[in-house]
Amino acid sequence: MQTKWNVTAAVPLPRRLVYDNGLGKTPIMGWSGWNKYECKINEKIVFGNTDALVRHGLDQLGYNYVIVDDCWAAYKRDKQGNLKSHPTTFPSGMKALADYAHSKGLKFGLYSDAGRRTCIGHRAGSEDHEIRDAKTFASWGVDYLKYDNCFHKKHYYPHLRYPVMSEALNKSGRPIFYTICEWGEDHPALWAGKYANSWRTSLDVKDRWDRIQILADDNNMWAAYAGPGGWNDPDMLQVGNGRMSVAEYRSHFSIWSIMKAPLIIGCELRKIREEHLEIYKNKEIIDINQDPLGIQARKVSRQGRCKCREVWAGPLSGKRIVLALWNRDWRRVAIKVNWFDLGLEPGVSVRVRDLWKVLIRL
Ligand code: GLA
Repeated sequence: MQTKWNVTAAVPLPRRLVYDNGLGKTPIMGWSGWNKYECKINEKIVFGNTDALVRHGLDQLGYNYVIVDDCWAAYKRDKQGNLKSHPTTFPSGMKALADYAHSKGLKFGLYSDAGRRTCIGHRAGSEDHEIRDAKTFASWGVDYLKYDNCFHKKHYYPHLRYPVMSEALNKSGRPIFYTICEWGEDHPALWAGKYANSWRTSLDVKDRWDRIQILADDNNMWAAYAGPGGWNDPDMLQVGNGRMSVAEYRSHFSIWSIMKAPLIIGCELRKIREEHLEIYKNKEIIDINQDPLGIQARKVSRQGRCKCREVWAGPLSGKRIVLALWNRDWRRVAIKVNWFDLGLEPGVSVRVRDLWKVLIRL
């Protein structure tokens, strides 16, 4: 939506704490195997999906991080105490995967844990090995670290454990995007911006409509804390995994995009269906997510007896506003948009463009 005014919409200026590694000026975009494969991941799958990402032209749209989540590591460290990859599933070692991603102009992400062992894989975690592991990641050419929250010393709070790896990464000699995964338990939006480039705001995503709605609502609460350098993370995308309808996947992708969530493709790219690929490739919606202003859109109105006919909105650069009319009811309904909710003066005329359809004039 384009207006005559410089729009601050219904959004106060966010209160920000900024981690100083210079990364994540816009939310990151990429691919991760976790939503599709969980622990059944291996290097063949990662190489294949890296190729498919490029073949589909997704890298050209900004999806440029290839990320390996849990289950890449061996159960134990090597004799010198270093992390190593699992000999059967990742025999080439993680540096080979990073090199491969870099050879395609992409970046490479890995996962570890702020405890003794990783969450589902039960592989070696990084607690008490932060400096050593950060150096190992840097030496392998890692560009991104997701840091999980299982099997840690109980008395030690996340806002004390997570900064340790943050500092270690900053001293590793390589810029590494750092994302915190403590599921929103200790309200990381309030403190993590000083230490990380993004932080999960809730439970794990599932390929289910009810879970998508819960994650969107959880994330929305922290909208004021997102901005260039530090983002709220409602978890990775499920588009393409097959359990939701195309309309539900479009809503999922739209809401994630306007919330300025990291856009991490979470499905099998070697065999993705055309209608799912089209969602990931909606350039105009990606542009909203990557807008340089970096302000997270939020819920500005709830209508109907069910309060489930919603308007979400937020300012964009260039005197524009992004608007989502989100019908969470079970039937077709009308949703009203008040200029007031958008921060517009009465009588202002606007041009409206439906990013899934056509140009409309109001
Ligand atoms: C946690 C995280 C997930 C995933 C798994 C891996 O549950 O929330 O995103 O990384 O661990 O074991």
